[in-house]
Amino acid sequence: MTDIPAIAQTLRGLLANAHAPYSGVHVAAAVEGPDGTLHYGVNVENAAYPQGVCAEASAISGMVTAGGVTITRVYVASSLPGMVWPCGGCRQKIHEFAAEGCEIVSIGAGGDVGRRTIEQLLPLAFRLEPGEVRRD
Ligand code: THU
Repeated sequence: MTDIPAIAQTLRGLLANAHAPYSGVHVAAAVEGPDGTLHYGVNVENAAYPQGVCAEASAISGMVTAGGVTITRVYVASSLPGMVWPCGGCRQKIHEFAAEGCEIVSIGAGGDVGRRTIEQLLPLAFRLEPGEVRRD
């Protein structure tokens, strides 16, 4: 298991970089690959509200840009007092790259930590088997 206190500290520092003038909720996330590599992201809101991007989506974009294809663990922290869990859309985005047993680790402001698998957070996820993917 990667050093959660160290990741929590990094995420707390990154909360200052979130662009969240509309909701006031700052979120930071990290996605971890099988080799332990971490990619971080924050939420980036927009005056055109639906164009805002969640912290998890930002982190996944960074991972894919760097050539990553597999997520073994996701870490999330926010400026809210309690633990936050990825929104429905981000659960599907995580699922796209999730390794078997991929774990979401929610880090609360008080240092409390919650853990769930992506299967717990997104049962019966929509997926396409290789034979169902159109390639023409
Ligand atoms: N948000 C995230 O970035 N990740 C989550 O897991 C939940 C919500 C963002 C979206 C929006 O910018 C703000 O938090 C309030 O919903």
